[in-house]
Amino acid sequence: MHRSISKKQLNLAVEIINNGGLVALPTETVYGLAADGTNPDAVKKIFSAKGRPADHPLILHLADANQLNRWAKNIPDYAYQLAKSYWPGPMTLILKKQPHVLDLVTGGQNTVGLRVPNHPIAQKVLQTLNEQNKHKPVALAAPSANSFGRISPTLAEHVQEDLGDKVNLILDGGSCSIGIESTIIDCTRDQPRILRPGVISEIDIKNITGLTPLEKPTSDNTNNPAPRVSGDLKSHYAPNTTTVLVNPIELNSYCEKFNNYVVLSREKPSISPVKIYDARIPTSYIHKSDHPKNWILMPEDYAAYAHCLYEQLHLADHLRCEQIIVEDVPKDNIHWAGIRDRLLKASYKGSKS
Ligand code: TXA
Ligand code: MG
Repeated sequence: MHRSISKKQLNLAVEIINNGGLVALPTETVYGLAADGTNPDAVKKIFSAKGRPADHPLILHLADANQLNRWAKNIPDYAYQLAKSYWPGPMTLILKKQPHVLDLVTGGQNTVGLRVPNHPIAQKVLQTLNEQNKHKPVALAAPSANSFGRISPTLAEHVQEDLGDKVNLILDGGSCSIGIESTIIDCTRDQPRILRPGVISEIDIKNITGLTPLEKPTSDNTNNPAPRVSGDLKSHYAPNTTTVLVNPIELNSYCEKFNNYVVLSREKPSISPVKIYDARIPTSYIHKSDHPKNWILMPEDYAAYAHCLYEQLHLADHLRCEQIIVEDVPKDNIHWAGIRDRLLKASYKGSKS
């Protein structure tokens, strides 16, 4: 599934980053829009390329978990335990920042988000940067490589289409293996707290730390303000097409009311005629549907579902139907929490209109 890059491309990426430019690169979760996290001008370019408000902090990506205390202080034991178990991997820790961390990166907060990615291309870029900059700490500021509010990219083609004219280089590593963004864990309190669910679940955190993660804070909980998480905006990760989330038992009757749609469902259609796409079989990238009723058959397994979710939402958007109808996924199942969180956000506008 991974595609490798040439030495020449690697060197070019590193040179661009050293010179304050933008490189989109694959991580195991989604593609990131990377720049030198210690260079304010480079970091500003990320915000303008994405159209992202300045108060939405960026994650810093490090080569190695051993570099944690170069960037963070007052690190609780449980954060070290999590870092040791899950880095490199799909987990971001929010910690008190060291004084040198740029306000531009943290959105002026006293905390910083840190992650060690586990993708060979992201790792190679980080390691080469470390070798070339031995005198200073190295970190890549990298949000997901999509315009603010859009679905995150899991293929280089997604980045090319959305931000192609705004980045200096896109490194194509094929499709991202995990497919949804990292689990974000606030480690600034006595107990961990999940700010954004992902494939590393509440149970995983409990197993490693012996601590039960605190409830995710809600945005309306004004007595206990949460650090800002832009993925918390209710309509984040939205396709252009109106998207609705529908209870599985109502799916068929819901679809019968419309003439033009694309469904994402784990079940085969019982209504006909529809054009079927199997999410496990790669389709060529650009589409406009030649059929009014389309059905994307999603995997039943949660890891496989997460892996292809954004790719299939991008495809569904390209089919340019009147709406995207997503069959709801299990509600109170820890393994589906990250996926359901993204589906609720993708469908938020649809549910209001
Ligand atoms: O998997 C991922 O995390 C991907 C890959 C590229 O690493 N990155 C990613 O970045 O999803 P982004 O910027 O799209 O989402 C990071 C989230 C944002 O919602 C941001 O607000 C939150 O992390 N965040 C960053 N620093 C924070 C901080 N100090 N406190 C609270 N939230 C923070
Ligand atoms: Mg994002």
